[in-house]
Amino acid sequence: MKSRLVVAALLPRDVVARARDEFDALVVEGSDDMSAPETVDAAIRHRADAILFTNTLPLSAEVIVTLPPSVRVGATSSVGYDHIDVAAAKARGLVVTNTPGVLTECTADFAFMMLLAAARRASEYDRIMRNGWGFRIGQGDLLGMRVTGKTLGILGMGRIGRAMAQRARGFDMRVVYHARNRLPTELERGGEYFAEFHAMLPVCDFLSLHAPATPATEKIINAQALSLLPRGAVLVNVSRGGLVDEDALIEALTSGHLFAAGLDVFRAEPNYDQRFAALENVILAPHVGSASVETRNAMGFRALDNIAAVLDGREAIDPLWR
Ligand code: 8YV
Repeated sequence: MKSRLVVAALLPRDVVARARDEFDALVVEGSDDMSAPETVDAAIRHRADAILFTNTLPLSAEVIVTLPPSVRVGATSSVGYDHIDVAAAKARGLVVTNTPGVLTECTADFAFMMLLAAARRASEYDRIMRNGWGFRIGQGDLLGMRVTGKTLGILGMGRIGRAMAQRARGFDMRVVYHARNRLPTELERGGEYFAEFHAMLPVCDFLSLHAPATPATEKIINAQALSLLPRGAVLVNVSRGGLVDEDALIEALTSGHLFAAGLDVFRAEPNYDQRFAALENVILAPHVGSASVETRNAMGFRALDNIAAVLDGREAIDPLWR
């Protein structure tokens, strides 16, 4: 008898195929992920042993207590788990897993793309071309900011932060970082540690955010932090919108204190603050840092592997706690 699974998120075709093959799977239909009430309802109707979801499902304490007792494991197809109330899941005895590791490289590729695009005005040039170009661009017009050889500050030096640093080394950049703890030298690979986040900011031509959303990082990029960056700096955020005070960021982009920003994540998603869309000096993306075929498949497969492990009575591969 196959175990019973609710797939609450719209996942890649190959992941859904594997879910249907290995489980008795009830899969979301239509064009949106299941809401929390829809997920709970599906879990009850399907007498589910497990649920598979992503960061669009707020697995809050209220949702967790309404899940039927049959559900033993919840797997999020994401590395971030700020949408999950870990204490409530623990208290309920629900095993929860995420997908660290498999999205590191693609997310760092994407962050570096946003860095390059923001510095070199990629989206602005693209808009000019789509509007027919048709005017002289003088040698002093529409200039971007050089990337090679500049200083990149990284907030959060986990797997993705370190992969970002690796890419920066290919551009001869000086890498400085702030994290709760200093890395061992072999992982630091020349990166310079700043114990104080604010002390690092004045040396950053670029600042890229790779920390999770927690109470400690909530609006860590506020007016004060932005004012400590040198005039003409570039901000990249592919982590979580909660790290940024968006009013302060819009002010810094409008005043010219920041040269540009590359933003993949927002405080409100998908209905993000439309004031960003009116700014020429931002490149925007709809939370797609991990969105390559290979990586989204790997994430989905990893979530399925986690579910199978728990339902087979083995240890989860990526439990949020042990
Ligand atoms: C999203 C992410 O899960 O892994 C994370 O934490 O933010 C992304 O990979 C994904 O983009 C949401 O569908």
